[in-house]
Amino acid sequence: MKNFITATILIAIAGSAFAHGKATGIVRERMDSMVVLGKTMKSLSLMAKSDAQLDKAALATAAQTIQDHSGENLTRLFPQGSTKHSDATPLVWTKSDEFIALATKLSEQGKALADVSTRDELQSHVQQLGASCKACHSDYRQKTD
Ligand code: HEC
Repeated sequence: MKNFITATILIAIAGSAFAHGKATGIVRERMDSMVVLGKTMKSLSLMAKSDAQLDKAALATAAQTIQDHSGENLTRLFPQGSTKHSDATPLVWTKSDEFIALATKLSEQGKALADVSTRDELQSHVQQLGASCKACHSDYRQKTD
């Protein structure tokens, strides 16, 4: 389980520093937003692996951070035509129903995180969150490496 979590997180947070460095405006803004999600996932996965007592306050903060960067807060950062120096695939705009659904799902999963009370629960939530990052990236983000 622990190894699975680590692998999922690494796939999810592996960014493309190249595109990121050149992007400006809203494209840069959404990349920065994704980086925040990546950092949040990293700290959650460390928490899920740690033997220390669950830090409920940190969990609540992570739950809020994920909600701040998902749902409409995510989709509003993808206006039509915002493709310059972006790794987003055209499907964002041609298959947008599913894109919106995936962003909404992440927001709901983020919210649910605040109610986690055991380490086992946290591990399964982190795994599901990672699967959501991956599900969207597989269709909506180009591989640039
Ligand atoms: C609804 C779709 C969607 C979801 C869900 C999603 N992402 Fe992304 N992500 C994207 C797209 C599209 C890009 C490419 C954006 C661009 O280059 O314009 C991206 C890019 C990234 C990047 C690279 C940013 C950069 O600096 O270039 C990271 C890191 C990232 N996502 C992490 C995550 C993590 C972690 C999660 C889950 C907690 C997540 N994403 C969930 C669509 C999504």
